[in-house]
Amino acid sequence: MKTAIRPQPGIMDIDLYQGGASHVDGLDNVIKLSSNENPLGPSEAAIKAFRDASYDLHRYPTSDHSRLRQAIAGVHGLDAGRIICGAGSDEIIAFLCQAYSGEGTEVLHTEHGFGMYRISALANGATPVEVKENERVTDVDALLAGCTDKTRLVFIANPNNPTGTMIGLSEIERLANGIPKQAILVLDGAYAEYVEGYDGGAALVDAHENIVMTRTFSKLYGLGGLRVGWGYGPAHIIDVLNRVRGPFNLSQAAVNAAEAAIKDVAYADHCRIENARWRNWMADALAEIGVPSDVSCANFILARFKSKSEAEACDEYLKTQGLIVRRVVGYKLPSCLRITVGDESACRRVVHAIRQFKGD
Ligand SMILES: Cc1ncc(COP(=O)(O)O)c(C=O)c1O
Repeated sequence: MKTAIRPQPGIMDIDLYQGGASHVDGLDNVIKLSSNENPLGPSEAAIKAFRDASYDLHRYPTSDHSRLRQAIAGVHGLDAGRIICGAGSDEIIAFLCQAYSGEGTEVLHTEHGFGMYRISALANGATPVEVKENERVTDVDALLAGCTDKTRLVFIANPNNPTGTMIGLSEIERLANGIPKQAILVLDGAYAEYVEGYDGGAALVDAHENIVMTRTFSKLYGLGGLRVGWGYGPAHIIDVLNRVRGPFNLSQAAVNAAEAAIKDVAYADHCRIENARWRNWMADALAEIGVPSDVSCANFILARFKSKSEAEACDEYLKTQGLIVRRVVGYKLPSCLRITVGDESACRRVVHAIRQFKGD
């Protein structure tokens, strides 16, 4: 049917985001290793806070997320006044694009960068600009060379998804110092919690006027289903983002659960340690059978196969074994599979199945 109704420019260029698959036809009891979720689930304290919130479902939630921001600030040693909470860090990315990009502007991201940067840029009529990585590692020189007077936002994830690699703070600082004056560097720290001793770039945010850090409760804290993320940045930027934020963008149950989760430092430490242990075990075991991966700093590994067809065949074989991993063709990594670090038994099953696939 012909219609004169048209969406804004850019929107029809968006390819729908593909989430990780969660079932295989005809199989029960599959293990989902396709969305980088915490196999141990959330802290018991978070579950209790979520349950307790069910008695107040008739009430509107807090609009300023003050208690959650204070809790985040307390754990990370930040200024609560410069934290903003969103429905996942996806929403913070969307706020940034809404507030700072638009028609005639450019949003930079890296070759294998997270898909929501491109989607959010297009949703706001901006032009996404993709910049090469250096062997699956963020390339600061390429990003600097990709900047123009139209650049408004430069997104990097550190560690990056789906590569698992990361760059050092001095490289990030070089990037922040080198981008044009009108541009913001966004440090996406969705996996920062997995890196012992890494602040996600928070100190750099404090030292610069043009850096925003995004973080999430979806990964280490095991709350992907609740949709809570946050951003930390200079006061002038957080003020702008709060103006486009809906007043009730997070449910109270989500806010309360996130607050309990971040205060449960011992459980977060436990999850980080278990992840590192089984990630390293899985990476070593796969390397031994001819499936290498870059050193991963996150809760997944990017397993490299000999060819696109081998990766595809392995993915199909894993499915028959009830193991769902992630193909990353859309991330321009056709001969790779991204495998989330599961619990011990899941990691052992994956390695066993890939060994069988390889005929070892
Ligand atoms: C690099 C990166 N950034 C942001 C997100 C968004 O996470 P959420 O919206 O659940 O906070 C993800 C999720 O997979 C991610 O991998």
